[in-house]
Amino acid sequence: MNEQIVEELRSAYIYLGMAAWADTQGLKGLAAFMRTHAEEEEYKHAMKFFDYILEAGGKAELGTIEKVSTDYQDVEQVLKEAIAHEEHITSKIKGLMDLAQRLNDYNAYDMLNWFTQEQIEEENLFTDLYDAYKLSGKNILVWDRNIKHPE
Ligand SMILES: [Fe+2]
Ligand SMILES: [Fe+2]
Repeated sequence: MNEQIVEELRSAYIYLGMAAWADTQGLKGLAAFMRTHAEEEEYKHAMKFFDYILEAGGKAELGTIEKVSTDYQDVEQVLKEAIAHEEHITSKIKGLMDLAQRLNDYNAYDMLNWFTQEQIEEENLFTDLYDAYKLSGKNILVWDRNIKHPE
């Protein structure tokens, strides 16, 4: 779970990097979406693991967050990388669930089950964003100005 704190903070960092790139491209909708996602979702995910560890009497370890990119070729690359990243996070959550099951740690399993549901939403969120891009006929301006992050 300490490793997952880093994964979630790195997720926030990745989406912040995407927000920075989008801003330089004039893509205000995408920049706002990515920034909101970093703050409202990923940072909160990290805190959920942080709180869980402390409440369970564990020791929080805050590892190193690797440097992330703020350079992307185009919208297509950003969206594909975001989807791939969420799939990576889903596999990490599944790994933690396997571990909780092996250790018969039911509390951890319950808490991780929330993340499993959350990951379905996260993968759908970015897939929907990519679908909307394709449905717009890859009209970046129309697509960008219509982007809304839920919540
Ligand atoms: Fe997350
Ligand atoms: Fe996420």
